[in-house]
Amino acid sequence: MLISPASSLWALSLASSWVYNGVSAQTWCGKNYMITEPVTDPGGQFPISLTFAEPHLALRCGPAVKPYLPEDVDSHLTDPTFTSILLDTPVTFTNISGATVLSNASNSTSLSNLSLDVKVLLDGKTLTSGSVPLNTSKHTLPFSLSTLTPRTDAYNVTCIGLLPTGEQVLGSSLLTFLPEKPDGIGGVTKMDMRSGALLAKPPTGEDGPYEGIFPIGFYTQYGSYLATNLSISGVLKEQGCVHPVPDFDNVTVLDEVLDKMQEAGLWLMYDMRNTYQNSTSVTEQVNHIKSRPNLLLWYTADEPDGTSDPLNATALTKNLINTLDGGDGQGGAGYHPVSLVLNCENYFWSEYSNGADILLQDTYMIGNNVTFSNQWGTACTVDYGDCGCDNCKGSFADISTRMDEFYERAFIEGWELEKVVWTVPQGFGNDTYWTRFPTGEEWVVQSIVGINHGGLGVVSWDDPTPDDIKASASSLAKALTSGSSPLAAFILDPFTTFRQVTTQTGIDIGLWTLDGTTLMLAANMNYENATIEAAELGLGKGNDGFGGGLKKVFCSGVCDASDLKKSVIVLGSVSSGAFILA
Ligand SMILES: *[C@@H]1O[C@H](CO)[C@@H](O)[C@H](O)[C@H]1NC(C)=O
Ligand SMILES: *[C@@H]1O[C@H](CO)[C@@H](O)[C@H](O)[C@H]1NC(C)=O
Ligand SMILES: *[C@@H]1O[C@H](CO)[C@@H](O)[C@H](O)[C@H]1NC(C)=O
Ligand SMILES: *[C@@H]1O[C@H](CO)[C@@H](O)[C@H](O)[C@H]1NC(C)=O
Ligand SMILES: *[C@@H]1O[C@H](CO)[C@@H](O)[C@H](O)[C@H]1NC(C)=O
Ligand SMILES: *[C@@H]1O[C@H](CO)[C@@H](O)[C@H](O)[C@H]1NC(C)=O
Ligand SMILES: *[C@@H]1O[C@H](CO)[C@@H](O)[C@H](O)[C@H]1NC(C)=O
Ligand SMILES: *[C@@H]1O[C@H](CO)[C@@H](O)[C@H](O)[C@H]1NC(C)=O
Ligand SMILES: *[C@@H]1O[C@H](CO)[C@@H](O)[C@H](O)[C@H]1NC(C)=O
Ligand SMILES: *[C@@H]1O[C@H](CO)[C@@H](O)[C@H](O)[C@H]1NC(C)=O
Ligand SMILES: *[C@@H]1O[C@H](CO)[C@@H](O)[C@H](O)[C@H]1NC(C)=O
Ligand SMILES: *[C@@H]1O[C@H](CO)[C@@H](O)[C@H](O)[C@H]1NC(C)=O
Repeated sequence: MLISPASSLWALSLASSWVYNGVSAQTWCGKNYMITEPVTDPGGQFPISLTFAEPHLALRCGPAVKPYLPEDVDSHLTDPTFTSILLDTPVTFTNISGATVLSNASNSTSLSNLSLDVKVLLDGKTLTSGSVPLNTSKHTLPFSLSTLTPRTDAYNVTCIGLLPTGEQVLGSSLLTFLPEKPDGIGGVTKMDMRSGALLAKPPTGEDGPYEGIFPIGFYTQYGSYLATNLSISGVLKEQGCVHPVPDFDNVTVLDEVLDKMQEAGLWLMYDMRNTYQNSTSVTEQVNHIKSRPNLLLWYTADEPDGTSDPLNATALTKNLINTLDGGDGQGGAGYHPVSLVLNCENYFWSEYSNGADILLQDTYMIGNNVTFSNQWGTACTVDYGDCGCDNCKGSFADISTRMDEFYERAFIEGWELEKVVWTVPQGFGNDTYWTRFPTGEEWVVQSIVGINHGGLGVVSWDDPTPDDIKASASSLAKALTSGSSPLAAFILDPFTTFRQVTTQTGIDIGLWTLDGTTLMLAANMNYENATIEAAELGLGKGNDGFGGGLKKVFCSGVCDASDLKKSVIVLGSVSSGAFILA
């Protein structure tokens, strides 16, 4: 959310104020936005990668799961890639991190026929090795944890790739193998980087197996809502994950609210937005909260890029939290991951993202004029103004663009095996820039577009929200996580293959295929009917179109799959559907 001068963030945001002609200027995403202020260069843009004439190769490697625990030793016999090193071997013509020129190999007629001989070293000893194809993603090289000792300090991992032409590429990473959680830690959230899913035991604190979690829920107003009535947690049960918004002024009341959430089986995303730069306060809060079994993850900065917080603030806090939560505070994993949200399209992205395992983006494009600010009476451009959606065009594609850019930058930085991105659909309106609320159907479109572009969590700003958004969110949450074909079972499975397509007609589609069955998640981004044709997706056999095996498992709005012989599905205005194709 955007700060207002009355909010407690004001004091912290002084870092982004400066004096121009005696007038104090306030910025958002580094841009001046008051009509009295001049246009300036906001700075902080992500560098445009240099293009090369010759192909380059990079080698990225990292553990499939972080952290590993003693319970993982020799216990994944039916899933050997659980304990493996993931390898990416992008062949590229741009200057991505670690790119090495292929001068010799590029002479050979077909690069795709070459493979890389990879050795993964840990403490100088070979942990695993194997042949890895070029230009592949998430290739697995299993290893055994049994020769390693659990410890707080992450192990340094070095990956060396050798081509038959004699060329060598290097990659490095950290592998965390923590001791069994001590009594002071309530639960463990592992990140499965094969899919990006979070893995955790039941939030109630009862014993049970680790399961993949697809968090879907709301930033939930605390003082004015959650803390006012202890029965609210029961009401929120369906959404699975709650993100209370501070201040949590009374610890006794906070504990009661969190107890109720735990009883109701709700996951907690613990927010320290107003205090994340105060190490004393963070220490107190983390030590108080870390024993909760329903703690899913930490959340530090809320739009630090908007307020131009110090560039090292998010990383410093992540390391502090990590130290208090069983990690080494130097990049290794702790017992829970750390998240934050960025609001700007392109402002010191790497610096702020550096402080997150899970990065959220909040692109709010409903009900605001994204090119002319109704608040400040100025145009919004790449170097001026604030319209509530930074560098947006005012369509749902702003969300997919933002998700894709975040992924692309993570890839350029070599972070694609380390970080995941979640999405924040707009669930508010009638507020500053946003003249109206989204409808429930628009809320679902925003969410599905985010999921189709890699979003592995959906946390909406904010609850309380209108009834139709609440109803739509519950019904999407149910489809994702329960029923006979929960969508999350496809999305979170490490063996799913994924494809995203945007049709000519403006429908954003995600296709997850697992064991010959495909989940299709489709969102119509138009305010009129639009159709999906089987042929356009490369689905269906011959004249069979989608075939007889299509099953509708979720619909928001109008989803007409009655005329499958024509191989066409009609989605109504801003309607969305989920279909299983056998
Ligand atoms: C490629 O990018 C790195 C930073 O990631 C930089 O140090 C290097 O100079 C760049 N190489 C070229 C040829 O531009
Ligand atoms: C590959 O081609 C480059 C010039 O493009 C040349 O310098 C190099 O010697 C060649 N290498 C081999 C192994 O032929
Ligand atoms: C690549 O390998 C395949 C099978 O090993 C072979 O049929 C093909 O001719 C090779 N292509 C080139 C360009 O070397
Ligand atoms: C590598 O794979 C990407 C897609 O994953 C593709 O776009 C690119 O063309 C491939 N590069 C080469 C050199 O084959
Ligand atoms: C890992 O490597 C870094 C940088 O080379 C070094 O500072 C650190 O001590 C190493 N950590 C361990 C646990 O060996
Ligand atoms: C390229 O191949 C030549 C001849 O085999 C070899 O001497 C040279 O070291 C290779 N270059 C690289 C960068 O590996
Ligand atoms: C916190 O709330 C409890 C329960 O409502 C109350 O008894 C207590 O006085 C409050 N503590 C403070 C410091 O306000
Ligand atoms: C930091 O947090 C501590 C503990 O809550 C508090 O006493 C202190 O006043 C805070 N410092 C600042 C500068 O807000
Ligand atoms: C973080 O950055 C600030 C400048 O914004 C600097 O004053 C401070 O020393 C840095 N802290 C650390 C630990 O590097
Ligand atoms: C945004 O505001 C400008 C200036 O008032 C207006 O010309 C434009 O039509 C508005 N755009 C939208 C999408 O409402
Ligand atoms: C919109 O906000 C105004 C001012 O906060 C409030 O008076 C009004 O009731 C709100 N309307 C709706 C539909 O929420
Ligand atoms: C939109 O599609 C629905 C379902 O097929 C259909 O009932 C309706 O008539 C269509 N509306 C328009 C305007 O074409």
